[in-house]
This record gives sequence, C-alpha cells and structure tokens, in this order.
Amino acid sequence: MVTINRVAAMGAAADGHRRDGRRIGFVPTMGYLHEGHLSLMKLARGRSDVLVVSVFVNPTQFGRGEDFASYPRDIERDTVMAAGALTDILFAPEADDMYPHGHSTWVEVGRIAELLEGKSRPGHFRGVATVVAKLFNIVKPHVAVFGQKDAQQAAVIRRMAADLNFGVEIVVAPTVREPDGLAMSSRNVYLSPAERVQAPALRRSLDAALRDIAAGERDCATIGRRMREIISREPSASIDYISLADADTLEELPTLARGSRALVSLAVRIGKTRLIDNDIVIVD
Ligand code: PAJ
Repeated sequence: MVTINRVAAMGAAADGHRRDGRRIGFVPTMGYLHEGHLSLMKLARGRSDVLVVSVFVNPTQFGRGEDFASYPRDIERDTVMAAGALTDILFAPEADDMYPHGHSTWVEVGRIAELLEGKSRPGHFRGVATVVAKLFNIVKPHVAVFGQKDAQQAAVIRRMAADLNFGVEIVVAPTVREPDGLAMSSRNVYLSPAERVQAPALRRSLDAALRDIAAGERDCATIGRRMREIISREPSASIDYISLADADTLEELPTLARGSRALVSLAVRIGKTRLIDNDIVIVD
C-alpha cells in the first residue's frame, strides 16, 4: 500500500491505472476506521483491480457547533487497518489542498438532501456531495462503495452520480453492528460507559417497527409511537427524529402500502452524541 497526500499525485496515479486498463474501486471515509469501513473495502476489493481508500475529515459537511474539531482521528491506526484490508492506495489529503483559497463551487442535490438528516443538519449534504464529487474527479473510480448505515447519504450520492453523469457505479453495503446491535460508527467512542449501555435502544426500536409491520400494522404514526416509547425509556436519550419514509424519495409515509419499500430511520442523541440508524422494509 502507498499513502498519497497530494491531490495532484492522486490524480496522476488514477490516470496511470486507467491508462493501463485497471478497474479502480473506491471507499471514501473520514477515518477512525472500524469493521463497517473494512466491510466496504472488502466489497470494493472484490470488484476492482486497484483499491483506493480516502481518509479526509471534510470540514464543509460539519455545521456550526458540530464536532469537526473533536472528530476522532488516528491516521497511523487507519494506515495499518487499510493495509490489512488490501488497500492499494490510501489517499489522505490536507484541507487546504482539497479546498484551496478561492474555492467557491458547491453541489446541491435538491429535495432528497433537504429531508431527514438534511432538516436536522442544514448544509450537511451540500458538503458531502461537494467533497464526494471532488473525490470522484480526483480518484476517477469505476465503482464506489457506501454504507447503508448512512442511507440518505447513499441516496444523495446515487442521485448526484446519475444527475452529473459521473459514470461511477454506486454500491451500497449492509450496516455492520456490534454484538448488541449498535451500528458501528467512529462517533461511538464519544459514548460514556453509561451511555453505551443505552445506545442499542436504536436497534431495538427498529426491531419493534419490523415486528409491528410483520404483524400487519400499516399506520406509520402507530409504528413511530412504539419506537418513540422504546427510546424514551433510556434516561440520556433525546429523539431528533423518527421517520417512516418512501425508500426512494425519502418523503414521509402516512401508511404503508402493499409492495412499497419503506425506510425506517431515526436520529437520537445519547447525552451529547448524535446516533443514527435505519432499516429498509419491503411491505407485502
Ligand atoms: P464515514 O462516516 O467515515 O463513513 C464512510 C463510509 O462508511 C460511509 O459510506 C458510511 O456509510 C460507511 N459506514 C459507516 N459506518 C458503517 C457501518 N456500521 N456499517 C457499514 N458501513 C458503514 O460517511 C462519511 O464518512 C463521509 O460523509 C464521506 C462519505 C466520507 C464524505 O466525507
């Protein structure tokens, strides 16, 4: 594995691989790697000749008062983990190389970026879409892998890649969880031991929704109420949103129609740590 820190050098390496007819697989990350990231790398590895992993804590996707400064960073550990996942190129650029003085172009994806996470975190997906567009132009991947953990992000990137004709195949990989159901996240390190015990309530509330739906419940308000009750039992939890939405448009659903695909998702603060989780249900 080689580490490349400069945008120009990464672009030149990608050009070389493309010229030689190699298929480039890409997994963009913000580092502090965990098993979830590694599963994406494994998937990308199997679909490409050259695997590029980026580690870049993208300042433009963090809002005011969010955790950009404190976001966990450990590039040495990330380097060992990425190499262990058979990465060929670790791309770890500096912020002033990605966003040099005068940078002023932004990618706005529209409606699907304004719902759910977009409502709670204004400007977040503008930052995500912009940095991923830039990374796609630098790394020039044939295939890029994203996690279902960030379902809306995956939908936003798919939309952007199609709308802007990136010609990159977007693959979405299943969420990797801790044994107690908590979705792996770099932010889980923020949780105190007392908070960590409460965090699996997100998965439990999703399980309750799936059970209700399997038992025939079709009213989204009723399903949401059950989920809310489960979260509310945790003393440090405060709900940002609980949503049952159309899996493609992300618009809220009043009822679950036969044959529809619903995205059941939630964002919950446990103490100061904001956690998200989701599941997709196919209604029969
Ligand atoms: P980051 O949070 O580091 O996540 C990088 C990728 O790993 C994303 O596609 C995310 O969905 C996926 N991922 C995170 N936790 C996962 C889990 N438990 N199981 C499976 N996949 C998981 O998402 C970002 O970084 C950034 O927004 C980025 C796309 C890199 C743009 O800056």
